[in-house]
Amino acid sequence: MTQKTILRALAGERLPTPPVWMMRQAGRYLPEYRATRAQAGDFLSLCYNPELAAEVTLQPIRRYGFDAAILFADILLIPQALGLDLWFVQGEGPRLSTVTDMRGYAQLRYVDDIHDTLAPVYDTVRILSRELPRDTTLIGFAGAPWTVATYMIAGRGTPDQAPAHAFKDTDREGFAALIDLITRATVEYLSAQIEAGAEVVKLFDSWAGSLKGQDFDDFALTPATRIISALKARHPDVPVIAFPREAGPRYQGFARAVGADCVALDNSVDAEWAAAHVQTDGCVQGNLDPRLLVTGGPALQAETRRVVQAFRGGPHIFNLGHGITPDADPDNVSRMLEAIRG
Ligand code: CP3
Repeated sequence: MTQKTILRALAGERLPTPPVWMMRQAGRYLPEYRATRAQAGDFLSLCYNPELAAEVTLQPIRRYGFDAAILFADILLIPQALGLDLWFVQGEGPRLSTVTDMRGYAQLRYVDDIHDTLAPVYDTVRILSRELPRDTTLIGFAGAPWTVATYMIAGRGTPDQAPAHAFKDTDREGFAALIDLITRATVEYLSAQIEAGAEVVKLFDSWAGSLKGQDFDDFALTPATRIISALKARHPDVPVIAFPREAGPRYQGFARAVGADCVALDNSVDAEWAAAHVQTDGCVQGNLDPRLLVTGGPALQAETRRVVQAFRGGPHIFNLGHGITPDADPDNVSRMLEAIRG
Protein backbone atom coordinates (compact mmCIF):
# COMPACT_ATOMS: atom_id res chain seq x y z
CA MET A 1 0.00 0.00 0.00
CA THR A 2 1.32 3.46 -0.88
CA GLN A 3 1.49 5.69 2.15
CA LYS A 4 -0.64 8.82 2.40
CA THR A 5 1.01 11.87 0.80
CA ILE A 6 1.08 13.93 4.01
CA LEU A 7 2.82 11.11 5.88
CA ARG A 8 5.35 10.74 3.05
CA ALA A 9 6.19 14.47 3.16
CA LEU A 10 6.47 14.31 6.96
CA ALA A 11 8.89 11.39 6.60
CA GLY A 12 11.11 13.68 4.52
CA GLU A 13 10.08 12.75 1.00
CA ARG A 14 10.07 15.38 -1.75
CA LEU A 15 6.89 14.93 -3.79
CA PRO A 16 6.35 16.25 -7.35
CA THR A 17 3.12 17.96 -6.18
CA PRO A 18 3.00 19.03 -2.54
CA PRO A 19 0.13 17.64 -0.45
CA VAL A 20 -2.18 20.41 0.77
CA TRP A 21 -4.59 21.37 3.54
CA MET A 22 -5.54 24.73 5.11
CA MET A 23 -5.62 26.03 8.67
CA ARG A 24 -9.28 26.72 9.60
CA GLN A 25 -10.40 24.82 6.51
CA ALA A 26 -13.65 24.01 8.33
CA GLY A 27 -14.91 27.50 9.04
CA ARG A 28 -17.21 30.41 8.47
CA TYR A 29 -16.17 31.06 4.82
CA LEU A 30 -18.11 27.84 3.97
CA PRO A 31 -21.94 28.07 3.81
CA GLU A 32 -22.24 24.41 4.84
CA TYR A 33 -20.19 25.16 8.00
CA ARG A 34 -22.45 28.08 8.92
CA ALA A 35 -25.50 25.84 8.49
CA THR A 36 -24.12 23.09 10.75
CA ARG A 37 -22.99 25.60 13.37
CA ALA A 38 -26.50 27.06 13.43
CA GLN A 39 -27.84 23.54 13.93
CA ALA A 40 -25.46 23.00 16.86
CA GLY A 41 -26.42 26.31 18.45
CA ASP A 42 -23.03 27.90 18.99
CA PHE A 43 -19.34 27.27 18.41
CA LEU A 44 -18.61 25.45 21.69
CA SER A 45 -21.69 23.22 21.37
CA LEU A 46 -20.36 22.30 17.93
CA CYS A 47 -16.92 21.45 19.39
CA TYR A 48 -18.53 19.11 21.96
CA ASN A 49 -20.98 17.42 19.57
CA PRO A 50 -19.00 14.51 18.04
CA GLU A 51 -21.41 13.87 15.13
CA LEU A 52 -21.59 17.53 14.08
CA ALA A 53 -17.90 18.24 14.75
CA ALA A 54 -17.04 15.26 12.51
CA GLU A 55 -19.48 16.58 9.89
CA VAL A 56 -17.82 20.02 9.70
CA THR A 57 -14.37 18.39 9.61
CA LEU A 58 -15.49 16.38 6.57
CA GLN A 59 -17.10 19.29 4.69
CA PRO A 60 -13.89 20.80 3.22
CA ILE A 61 -12.64 17.29 2.37
CA ARG A 62 -15.78 16.61 0.32
CA ARG A 63 -15.72 20.03 -1.34
CA TYR A 64 -12.00 20.25 -2.17
CA GLY A 65 -10.35 16.86 -1.59
CA PHE A 66 -7.63 18.17 0.74
CA ASP A 67 -4.90 15.68 1.64
CA ALA A 68 -5.49 16.15 5.37
CA ALA A 69 -8.43 16.79 7.68
CA ILE A 70 -7.86 18.62 10.95
CA LEU A 71 -9.99 17.66 13.91
CA PHE A 72 -12.63 20.31 14.59
CA ALA A 73 -12.08 21.62 18.13
CA ASP A 74 -10.28 24.58 19.71
CA ILE A 75 -7.07 25.22 21.62
CA LEU A 76 -9.12 26.73 24.47
CA LEU A 77 -10.84 23.47 25.41
CA ILE A 78 -7.80 22.64 27.58
CA PRO A 79 -8.25 25.68 29.86
CA GLN A 80 -11.91 24.74 30.13
CA ALA A 81 -10.97 21.14 31.00
CA LEU A 82 -8.64 22.56 33.67
CA GLY A 83 -11.62 24.29 35.26
CA LEU A 84 -11.87 27.76 33.72
CA ASP A 85 -15.14 29.10 32.35
CA LEU A 86 -15.06 29.56 28.57
CA TRP A 87 -17.50 31.28 26.24
CA PHE A 88 -17.39 32.97 22.83
CA VAL A 89 -18.78 36.42 22.17
CA GLN A 90 -20.21 36.61 18.67
CA GLY A 91 -18.04 38.80 16.46
CA GLU A 92 -15.42 39.30 19.19
CA GLY A 93 -13.85 35.99 20.15
CA PRO A 94 -13.14 33.93 23.25
CA ARG A 95 -13.63 34.94 26.88
CA LEU A 96 -12.36 32.95 29.89
CA SER A 97 -12.30 33.29 33.65
CA THR A 98 -8.68 34.09 34.49
CA VAL A 99 -5.63 32.81 36.36
CA THR A 100 -3.44 35.77 37.27
CA ASP A 101 -1.55 34.49 40.30
CA MET A 102 -0.77 31.40 42.39
CA ARG A 103 -4.18 31.54 44.09
CA GLY A 104 -5.89 31.13 40.73
CA TYR A 105 -3.39 28.45 39.77
CA ALA A 106 -4.16 26.47 42.95
CA GLN A 107 -7.83 26.28 41.97
CA LEU A 108 -7.22 24.55 38.64
CA ARG A 109 -8.07 20.86 38.23
CA TYR A 110 -5.59 18.00 38.12
CA VAL A 111 -4.28 16.81 34.76
CA ASP A 112 -5.90 13.38 35.23
CA ASP A 113 -9.32 15.04 35.34
CA ILE A 114 -9.22 16.75 31.92
CA HIS A 115 -10.67 13.76 30.07
CA ASP A 116 -14.11 14.21 31.70
CA THR A 117 -14.51 17.41 29.67
CA LEU A 118 -12.57 16.31 26.60
CA ALA A 119 -14.13 12.86 26.02
CA PRO A 120 -16.43 14.15 23.21
CA VAL A 121 -13.35 15.37 21.30
CA TYR A 122 -11.92 11.83 21.37
CA ASP A 123 -15.28 10.57 20.09
CA THR A 124 -15.03 13.02 17.16
CA VAL A 125 -11.59 11.59 16.33
CA ARG A 126 -12.98 8.04 16.43
CA ILE A 127 -15.81 8.93 14.04
CA LEU A 128 -13.38 10.65 11.67
CA SER A 129 -10.90 7.82 11.59
CA ARG A 130 -13.76 5.61 10.45
CA GLU A 131 -15.30 8.01 7.93
CA LEU A 132 -12.43 9.82 6.24
CA PRO A 133 -11.42 8.78 2.71
CA ARG A 134 -8.60 6.24 2.73
CA ASP A 135 -5.92 8.64 1.48
CA THR A 136 -6.81 11.56 3.78
CA THR A 137 -4.61 12.03 6.86
CA LEU A 138 -6.27 12.92 10.17
CA ILE A 139 -4.47 15.66 12.13
CA GLY A 140 -5.11 16.23 15.84
CA PHE A 141 -3.90 19.36 17.63
CA ALA A 142 -3.46 21.40 20.76
CA GLY A 143 -2.28 24.87 21.63
CA ALA A 144 1.29 25.21 22.88
CA PRO A 145 1.58 26.09 26.59
CA TRP A 146 2.66 29.74 26.13
CA THR A 147 -0.22 30.53 23.74
CA VAL A 148 -2.78 28.74 25.93
CA ALA A 149 -1.40 30.54 29.01
CA THR A 150 -1.82 33.95 27.33
CA TYR A 151 -5.58 33.30 27.05
CA MET A 152 -5.85 31.84 30.58
CA ILE A 153 -4.13 34.87 32.09
CA ALA A 154 -5.81 37.63 30.05
CA GLY A 155 -9.21 35.94 29.74
CA ARG A 156 -9.27 36.82 26.05
CA GLY A 157 -7.06 37.36 23.01
CA THR A 158 -4.64 40.27 23.40
CA PRO A 159 -2.60 42.02 20.69
CA ASP A 160 0.59 42.11 22.79
CA GLN A 161 0.01 39.38 25.42
CA ALA A 162 0.75 42.00 28.10
CA PRO A 163 -1.02 40.24 31.02
CA ALA A 164 0.94 37.00 30.40
CA HIS A 165 4.21 38.93 30.17
CA ALA A 166 3.31 40.71 33.42
CA PHE A 167 2.73 37.39 35.25
CA LYS A 168 6.00 35.98 33.83
CA ASP A 169 8.00 39.07 34.76
CA THR A 170 6.66 39.45 38.31
CA ASP A 171 6.47 35.78 39.39
CA ARG A 172 8.60 33.66 37.08
CA GLU A 173 8.32 30.57 39.28
CA GLY A 174 4.54 30.76 39.50
CA PHE A 175 4.33 31.34 35.77
CA ALA A 176 6.61 28.34 35.15
CA ALA A 177 4.28 26.21 37.31
CA LEU A 178 1.32 27.19 35.11
CA ILE A 179 3.31 26.39 31.94
CA ASP A 180 4.27 23.03 33.48
CA LEU A 181 0.63 22.18 34.22
CA ILE A 182 -0.46 23.03 30.66
CA THR A 183 2.50 21.06 29.29
CA ARG A 184 1.48 17.92 31.20
CA ALA A 185 -2.21 18.33 30.28
CA THR A 186 -1.26 18.76 26.61
CA VAL A 187 0.72 15.50 26.60
CA GLU A 188 -2.31 13.61 27.94
CA TYR A 189 -4.72 15.39 25.58
CA LEU A 190 -2.64 14.70 22.46
CA SER A 191 -1.94 11.10 23.52
CA ALA A 192 -5.67 10.51 23.89
CA GLN A 193 -6.28 11.99 20.42
CA ILE A 194 -3.62 9.65 18.99
CA GLU A 195 -5.10 6.65 20.79
CA ALA A 196 -8.50 7.58 19.29
CA GLY A 197 -7.04 7.68 15.75
CA ALA A 198 -5.18 10.95 15.04
CA GLU A 199 -2.29 10.12 12.66
CA VAL A 200 -0.36 13.39 13.05
CA VAL A 201 -0.51 16.05 15.75
CA LYS A 202 0.15 19.78 15.48
CA LEU A 203 1.14 22.16 18.25
CA PHE A 204 -0.10 25.76 17.68
CA ASP A 205 2.08 28.41 19.32
CA SER A 206 0.27 31.38 17.81
CA TRP A 207 1.94 33.95 20.08
CA ALA A 208 5.49 32.50 20.05
CA GLY A 209 6.63 35.66 18.26
CA SER A 210 6.22 37.78 21.39
CA LEU A 211 8.81 35.72 23.33
CA LYS A 212 12.41 36.88 23.02
CA GLY A 213 15.80 35.51 24.07
CA GLN A 214 15.73 33.34 27.20
CA ASP A 215 11.93 33.60 27.38
CA PHE A 216 11.66 31.99 23.94
CA ASP A 217 13.93 29.16 25.13
CA ASP A 218 12.10 28.66 28.42
CA PHE A 219 8.50 29.06 27.30
CA ALA A 220 8.40 28.13 23.58
CA LEU A 221 11.29 25.70 22.98
CA THR A 222 11.36 23.85 26.31
CA PRO A 223 7.61 23.08 26.64
CA ALA A 224 7.43 21.98 22.98
CA THR A 225 10.47 19.75 23.52
CA ARG A 226 8.90 18.19 26.62
CA ILE A 227 5.57 17.56 24.90
CA ILE A 228 7.14 16.07 21.79
CA SER A 229 9.58 13.83 23.64
CA ALA A 230 6.78 12.49 25.87
CA LEU A 231 4.62 11.81 22.79
CA LYS A 232 7.48 10.18 20.89
CA ALA A 233 8.16 7.90 23.87
CA ARG A 234 4.56 6.66 23.74
CA HIS A 235 3.85 6.93 20.01
CA PRO A 236 7.18 6.87 18.15
CA ASP A 237 5.57 6.64 14.70
CA VAL A 238 3.25 9.63 14.99
CA PRO A 239 4.70 12.74 13.29
CA VAL A 240 4.47 16.12 14.99
CA ILE A 241 4.14 19.53 13.31
CA ALA A 242 5.25 22.54 15.36
CA PHE A 243 3.94 26.04 14.61
CA PRO A 244 5.93 28.75 16.41
CA ARG A 245 4.06 31.56 14.67
CA GLU A 246 6.07 34.71 13.97
CA ALA A 247 9.26 33.20 15.39
CA GLY A 248 11.19 34.93 12.57
CA PRO A 249 14.88 33.92 12.60
CA ARG A 250 14.13 31.48 15.45
CA TYR A 251 12.46 29.26 12.86
CA GLN A 252 15.97 28.22 11.91
CA GLY A 253 16.81 25.00 13.79
CA PHE A 254 13.44 25.01 15.63
CA ALA A 255 12.18 21.62 14.39
CA ARG A 256 15.44 19.91 15.28
CA ALA A 257 15.62 21.61 18.69
CA VAL A 258 12.12 20.46 19.73
CA GLY A 259 12.18 17.09 17.93
CA ALA A 260 9.36 17.94 15.51
CA ASP A 261 9.04 16.27 12.10
CA CYS A 262 7.92 19.49 10.44
CA VAL A 263 7.74 23.18 11.19
CA ALA A 264 4.81 25.30 9.97
CA LEU A 265 5.77 28.72 8.59
CA ASP A 266 3.62 31.81 8.99
CA ASN A 267 3.27 34.23 6.09
CA SER A 268 5.72 36.79 7.47
CA VAL A 269 8.51 34.34 6.57
CA ASP A 270 10.05 34.69 3.13
CA ALA A 271 9.66 31.33 1.35
CA GLU A 272 13.03 31.52 -0.40
CA TRP A 273 14.78 32.27 2.92
CA ALA A 274 12.95 29.38 4.60
CA ALA A 275 13.87 26.99 1.76
CA ALA A 276 17.54 27.86 2.31
CA HIS A 277 17.58 28.00 6.12
CA VAL A 278 14.70 25.92 7.50
CA GLN A 279 13.78 23.27 4.91
CA THR A 280 17.40 22.05 5.01
CA ASP A 281 16.40 20.41 8.36
CA GLY A 282 13.37 18.57 6.94
CA CYS A 283 9.73 19.05 6.04
CA VAL A 284 8.18 22.52 6.12
CA GLN A 285 4.51 23.49 5.94
CA GLY A 286 3.15 26.76 4.58
CA ASN A 287 2.93 29.60 3.84
CA LEU A 288 0.54 31.39 1.50
CA ASP A 289 -0.89 34.66 2.85
CA PRO A 290 -4.57 33.94 3.67
CA ARG A 291 -5.55 37.44 2.44
CA LEU A 292 -4.99 36.21 -1.13
CA LEU A 293 -8.04 33.94 -0.72
CA VAL A 294 -10.08 37.09 -0.19
CA THR A 295 -8.64 39.08 -3.09
CA GLY A 296 -8.06 36.21 -5.57
CA GLY A 297 -7.12 37.10 -9.15
CA PRO A 298 -3.69 36.81 -10.76
CA ALA A 299 -1.90 37.58 -7.46
CA LEU A 300 -3.40 34.43 -5.88
CA GLN A 301 -2.19 32.26 -8.75
CA ALA A 302 1.25 33.90 -8.89
CA GLU A 303 1.86 33.69 -5.12
CA THR A 304 0.61 30.09 -4.90
CA ARG A 305 3.05 29.10 -7.64
CA ARG A 306 5.85 31.05 -5.99
CA VAL A 307 5.40 29.15 -2.71
CA VAL A 308 5.30 25.78 -4.54
CA GLN A 309 8.38 26.76 -6.55
CA ALA A 310 10.35 27.99 -3.53
CA PHE A 311 9.91 24.71 -1.65
CA ARG A 312 10.08 22.26 -4.56
CA GLY A 313 13.63 21.17 -3.69
CA GLY A 314 12.59 19.40 -0.48
CA PRO A 315 9.73 17.98 1.60
CA HIS A 316 6.82 20.44 1.69
CA ILE A 317 3.17 20.47 2.75
CA PHE A 318 1.32 23.36 1.14
CA ASN A 319 -0.74 25.43 3.60
CA LEU A 320 -1.59 29.01 4.49
CA GLY A 321 0.58 31.08 6.83
CA HIS A 322 -2.42 31.47 9.18
CA GLY A 323 -6.09 30.47 9.19
CA ILE A 324 -8.41 31.22 6.26
CA THR A 325 -10.66 34.17 7.16
CA PRO A 326 -14.49 34.26 7.12
CA ASP A 327 -14.51 36.76 4.22
CA ALA A 328 -12.53 34.41 1.88
CA ASP A 329 -14.25 33.35 -1.34
CA PRO A 330 -14.70 29.53 -1.50
CA ASP A 331 -14.01 29.66 -5.28
CA ASN A 332 -10.59 31.14 -4.60
CA VAL A 333 -9.71 27.96 -2.68
CA SER A 334 -10.45 25.97 -5.85
CA ARG A 335 -8.24 28.36 -7.84
CA MET A 336 -5.43 27.91 -5.31
CA LEU A 337 -5.74 24.12 -5.63
CA GLU A 338 -5.62 24.35 -9.44
CA ALA A 339 -2.45 26.42 -9.21
CA ILE A 340 -0.88 23.75 -6.95
CA ARG A 341 -2.12 20.60 -8.63
CA GLY A 342 -2.35 21.84 -12.25
O1 CP3 B 1 -7.93 24.61 11.70
C1 CP3 B 1 -9.05 24.10 11.88
O2 CP3 B 1 -9.98 24.20 11.06
C2 CP3 B 1 -9.27 23.21 13.10
C3 CP3 B 1 -10.02 23.78 14.16
C4 CP3 B 1 -9.42 24.94 14.89
C5 CP3 B 1 -10.19 26.03 15.37
N1 CP3 B 1 -9.38 26.82 16.12
C6 CP3 B 1 -11.62 26.24 15.12
C7 CP3 B 1 -12.20 27.58 15.34
C8 CP3 B 1 -8.10 25.15 15.31
C9 CP3 B 1 -6.84 24.33 15.01
C10 CP3 B 1 -8.10 26.33 16.10
C11 CP3 B 1 -6.89 26.83 16.76
C12 CP3 B 1 -6.98 28.06 17.53
N2 CP3 B 1 -8.02 28.54 18.27
C13 CP3 B 1 -5.90 28.94 17.71
C14 CP3 B 1 -4.50 28.73 17.14
C15 CP3 B 1 -4.41 29.04 15.70
C16 CP3 B 1 -4.55 30.50 15.38
O3 CP3 B 1 -5.56 30.83 14.76
O4 CP3 B 1 -3.63 31.26 15.72
C17 CP3 B 1 -6.33 29.99 18.52
C18 CP3 B 1 -5.51 31.18 18.95
C19 CP3 B 1 -7.67 29.71 18.88
C20 CP3 B 1 -8.56 30.50 19.79
C21 CP3 B 1 -9.73 31.02 19.08
N3 CP3 B 1 -10.76 30.26 18.62
C22 CP3 B 1 -9.98 32.37 18.73
C23 CP3 B 1 -9.07 33.53 19.04
C24 CP3 B 1 -11.20 32.40 18.07
C25 CP3 B 1 -11.95 33.60 17.62
C26 CP3 B 1 -11.46 34.12 16.33
C27 CP3 B 1 -12.35 33.67 15.21
O5 CP3 B 1 -11.82 33.27 14.16
O6 CP3 B 1 -13.57 33.75 15.40
C28 CP3 B 1 -11.65 31.05 17.96
C29 CP3 B 1 -12.90 30.60 17.31
C30 CP3 B 1 -12.78 29.51 16.31
N4 CP3 B 1 -11.99 28.41 16.41
C31 CP3 B 1 -13.55 29.41 15.12
C32 CP3 B 1 -13.20 28.20 14.51
C33 CP3 B 1 -13.76 27.59 13.26
C34 CP3 B 1 -14.60 30.39 14.65
C35 CP3 B 1 -15.80 30.14 15.51
C36 CP3 B 1 -17.10 30.37 14.83
O7 CP3 B 1 -17.60 29.47 14.13
O8 CP3 B 1 -17.67 31.46 15.07
